[in-house]
Amino acid sequence: MEWHKVPVKIDESRNYVKALHVAGKKLCLISENGVISVTSSRCPHAGADLTKGWCEGGKLICPFHRHRFNIETGAGDEQQHNYIRVYPLKKENGDYYIGIDKSLWNKIFG
Ligand code: FES
Repeated sequence: MEWHKVPVKIDESRNYVKALHVAGKKLCLISENGVISVTSSRCPHAGADLTKGWCEGGKLICPFHRHRFNIETGAGDEQQHNYIRVYPLKKENGDYYIGIDKSLWNKIFG
């Protein structure tokens, strides 16, 4: 796994869901009640952009058909049988870093 510095300032004082571009990936940055989470941005149901969704009570909600995902575990609500990816996050000297697995390509040729 490689740690990538988050290239934008994260405001923990407001609640929001927005896009975050790191290491060639579009991720979903969530700030809810002072807790920051980073998840995958593509909804596993039908591919909607989760960065256009919103967060309620620790669940990220897809704007298309309202599937709900736990922002700590990525698990979808029970009847959905799906999940999203949650990326590890760490804070050092005021900066956030996201842990992203090396792609197979980078493992072989990186
Ligand atoms: S595309 Fe996300 S719930 Fe359908």
